[in-house]
Amino acid sequence: MAEDLIISKGSKSEKYEELIPQIRALILYESDSIANMANVVAALKQTFDFFWVGFYILREDQLVLGPFQGPIACTRIKKGRGVCGTAWEKGETIVVPDVDQFPGHIACSSLSKSEVVIPLFDDDEFIGVLDIDSDKVNDFTQEDVFYLEQIVGLLE
Ligand code: SME
Repeated sequence: MAEDLIISKGSKSEKYEELIPQIRALILYESDSIANMANVVAALKQTFDFFWVGFYILREDQLVLGPFQGPIACTRIKKGRGVCGTAWEKGETIVVPDVDQFPGHIACSSLSKSEVVIPLFDDDEFIGVLDIDSDKVNDFTQEDVFYLEQIVGLLE
């Protein structure tokens, strides 16, 4: 497929609707999960200009930093720690409207104000998370969750 992403200026949901089939096409014939995660991250960053977008991948008993776009970030997160480790422990998506209000939030950057973390499964087995940070408070809604879970589902 062409390597250009086509995203018109519309509402957030219109952008997601345009983006999802393009991500599907982008990863369809590539079996390497790291390459696919890298393109998903780039596509999300390019479309929404989120402050930080990246994957943390389960390696033995910790999450380890995977493909990402944005400022440098912490490399290892334990189960139950921070938003990512909590999403892992609970096995569910977590939306944090204000990171200062989330006990144990791991601040990789003081500019990050809100966050959404979506767990990634392979045949019901937890394999990592997609983590997105915004520099605006309250930047993620259930609309984001609806579409981001679909995007993560494309990798499963
Ligand atoms: N804030 C995350 C850590 C990762 S950074 O946001 C990139 C957390 O609390 O798990």
